[in-house]
Amino acid sequence: MKKIFWYFLLIFIVIVVLSLVVIINKKINVNNPQSKDEKTEKLEFLNNIDKKIDYFHYSYLDRYVNYKQSHSDLSDIDIITRVNLGLDKPFYNETKPSNLLNKITILVNKYTYLEKDYVPNNLRTISSIFSNAEKELVYEAKEAFEKMASNAKENGYTIRAISAYRSYEYQEGLYNKYVEKDGIELADTYSARPGYSEHQTGLVVDIDNGNTDFNLFEQTEEFKWMQENAHLYGFILRYPKGKEEVTGYDYEAWHYRYVGKDIATFMKNNDLTYDEYYARYIDK
Ligand code: DAL
Ligand code: ZN
Repeated sequence: MKKIFWYFLLIFIVIVVLSLVVIINKKINVNNPQSKDEKTEKLEFLNNIDKKIDYFHYSYLDRYVNYKQSHSDLSDIDIITRVNLGLDKPFYNETKPSNLLNKITILVNKYTYLEKDYVPNNLRTISSIFSNAEKELVYEAKEAFEKMASNAKENGYTIRAISAYRSYEYQEGLYNKYVEKDGIELADTYSARPGYSEHQTGLVVDIDNGNTDFNLFEQTEEFKWMQENAHLYGFILRYPKGKEEVTGYDYEAWHYRYVGKDIATFMKNNDLTYDEYYARYIDK
């Protein structure tokens, strides 16, 4: 008799515990609509790219899915890269301060800005032989630029700096002038708002060949030389043709960013903009 009592008690306890588990599980699923199955489905929609790359953010899962739904032409890698950069949201909407200040890997674009009082360390004046007026770059970039311009000269090409470091205030004046002339929408396609210009990093140089307007630099022999050689000195074309959606700017054949030889070579070989490189290899 006693044995039977304990036997029933045990069965009763097991039933109560199992019921509790079922109830709690249901509650959790109600509070968390992204159930395991849903998550699995979303990851499958992204071809389980999360297993293949180390810059996948699970907290962005819904953003990746939404972006892929509206950009079916892009590869999964590009979907992740672009959402990580914030490209699923409008430019200048949710911005944050740039980190890696005073590093050659700093990113400045329409989502990341420099404070008004940011002035890079180690600005140095570019030799007047290679510039149209007094222009400054961060020391390492200046050295590389002079070496590049000097080697170009030896081969019969003129590479001349026409704009390099620009302060916040200078950019503000420039941008406001363009807005007055063309309106905000158009100005935003070719000029950075103050604080958002890479020129403020001191790692950027606009060039011409000394006798052709910089707007026509693409048509010069110097441009061809830059296409073949700039990376060897650590410079990259920052706003390339065909990548306007990623950079947020019209193609600029004259605007070069110093990132160092290794990164520049890698970017060239992999056809990446600096935004893409940063999202995949720096910001993890
Ligand atoms: N023209 C480039 C985008 C700048 O204003 O920095
Ligand atoms: Zn520029």
